Amino acid sequence: MIAPSILSADWTNMQEEFKKLNQGQADYIHIDVMDGNFVPNISFGPSLIKQLRKLTKIPFDLHLMIMKPENYIEEFKKAGADIITIHPSATLHLDRTISLIKDLGMKAGIAINPGENIDSIKYILKKLDLVLIMSVNPGFGGQKFIDYSLDKIRDLKELIKEKNSKALIEVDGGIKLDNAKEVIEAGADILVSGSGIFGENTLENIRKFKEIN
Ligand code: DX5
Ligand code: ZN
Repeated sequence: MIAPSILSADWTNMQEEFKKLNQGQADYIHIDVMDGNFVPNISFGPSLIKQLRKLTKIPFDLHLMIMKPENYIEEFKKAGADIITIHPSATLHLDRTISLIKDLGMKAGIAINPGENIDSIKYILKKLDLVLIMSVNPGFGGQKFIDYSLDKIRDLKELIKEKNSKALIEVDGGIKLDNAKEVIEAGADILVSGSGIFGENTLENIRKFKEIN
């Protein structure tokens, strides 16, 4: 599955950008929410997301790079989120925050930074709908894919099997058409791509990503 990250979209022309996402039948729309605190960048908030919700029926995959995400889950639900992924180091009671997301009828995910270990999610894995492997340090689009992420994806795949979890593996950062195949082969179910999709050939890129298998 492909989840274009609108962090790299032309924000002055979202109607056109969303037309292409609809036409290309993107599986999810990946929305990076940043608070300038958990990560050194600031991006979208709930009111903008609510406006964008009018432009498509494609599920909204929210990647919350914010401190204390638990305080904003309900608001993001109201804005139209379908999936919410949070970072463990941003919330004090991870299980409680995951339960809150699920109780509100959304899918829940946990994001693992490049320097973080997957062992810490071993027990909560059964409760998750997805695990987001960060293949760059969170905060910006257009960074280079960190190669050791491939090993982490393989290990996570094993762990998911071992724990009999249904969680999907989503990979985020530095994914382009030319390295997508090896990320899929390592075990990814969903690829996020921002700078690898938006630009001159957005629609064509979505289609090409969807053809890789
Ligand atoms: C980075 C974000 C990514 C970002 C990916 O913090 O989580 O979703 O938009 O951008 P590219 O695909 O350009 O690396
Ligand atoms: Zn992201």
